[in-house]
Amino acid sequence: DASDIEKGTYPHYMLKEIDEQPAVIRKIIQTYQNEQGELTIDGDIIDAVNKADRIYIIAAGTSYHAGLVGKQFIEKMAKVPVEVHISSEFGYNMPLLSEKPLFIFISQSGETADSRAVLVQVKEMGYPALTITNVPGSTLSREADFTLLLHAGPEIAVASTKAYTAQIAVLSILAEVTAKTKGLEFGFDLIHELGLVANAMDVLCDSKEIIEIMAREFLSVTRNCFFIGRGIDFYVGLEGALKLKEISYIQAEGFAGGELKHGTIALIEEGTPVIALATQENVNLSIRGNVKEVVARGANPCIISMKGLNTDEDSFVIPEVYELLTPLISVVPLQLLAYYASLHRGCDVDKPRNLAKSVTVE
Ligand code: G6P
Repeated sequence: DASDIEKGTYPHYMLKEIDEQPAVIRKIIQTYQNEQGELTIDGDIIDAVNKADRIYIIAAGTSYHAGLVGKQFIEKMAKVPVEVHISSEFGYNMPLLSEKPLFIFISQSGETADSRAVLVQVKEMGYPALTITNVPGSTLSREADFTLLLHAGPEIAVASTKAYTAQIAVLSILAEVTAKTKGLEFGFDLIHELGLVANAMDVLCDSKEIIEIMAREFLSVTRNCFFIGRGIDFYVGLEGALKLKEISYIQAEGFAGGELKHGTIALIEEGTPVIALATQENVNLSIRGNVKEVVARGANPCIISMKGLNTDEDSFVIPEVYELLTPLISVVPLQLLAYYASLHRGCDVDKPRNLAKSVTVE
């Protein structure tokens, strides 16, 4: 049938969609480029960003995690303050808004009811809204003032992979173009660096065998698993934990390295897997300190580090990319770990129990 054709030789959509990520990043670089070879975004959108005194990112699930990473770009590159909110919470617990807010809705499907409920409120209040989505003509796209598309192609697996990295890439471009129109210097060539990201993703997609072995070693029998990271790595850890719980049903949580001592470390037992991300130079030593703390309590550590920051103890080293862009590639081994954990545990990878691809009820 049609779905078999689309899946091609892949056993699951999720694996196919993970593998599509380098091509999606290249497609995004191409689509968002003008004839002069510069990144470009519709002038009305950039005006709206430049008029805003604060951006409110509203999203759910994986898209919320992409928003957390996007905040880093928009604040560091374009110097606009950003708050990131879970749609379902924002609806009834709205924070004190700034004078000139711009709302950015991030949604793969463009149909998430929790996000739509916020969009309806925001439009009633008369505020501008931009939707970043994979689906042209989706509800959130039609009802917002502006849309940026992900160009990731249809995402079928319930666990989102290529939409997450596409969302991060598009947010980085939004930050870059805004920064340029403001005359801000941020010190790197985004087109070039995203190209390196796509190449690094290729390398990671070719590392399936070793990641499958890691999944067997760390995740085939465990009841739970923790992800730790600091700064931007913490956000990627949240996404890694979400992927793992969604499709393997292992109880997984992402934590900020520094918070371990304030509670979570009580859960570490002999053999508890702890996946640590170490891609940021400024926190490399402190996250490694956290790994030592959990190992002293019996944890089974798995360190995923970036080349240049790695040591002999590390389980998996990802290629070096520009520091702010590491989430685009550090997430790939986490997606693959979740995939193989799900497979080894006999779960339904593409259609996990109790979950829907898009949730159209509040
Ligand atoms: C559902 C899906 C998640 C997704 C979330 C938000 O819960 O299972 O994978 O991240 O909705 O979806 P959206 O389409 O708004 O990004």
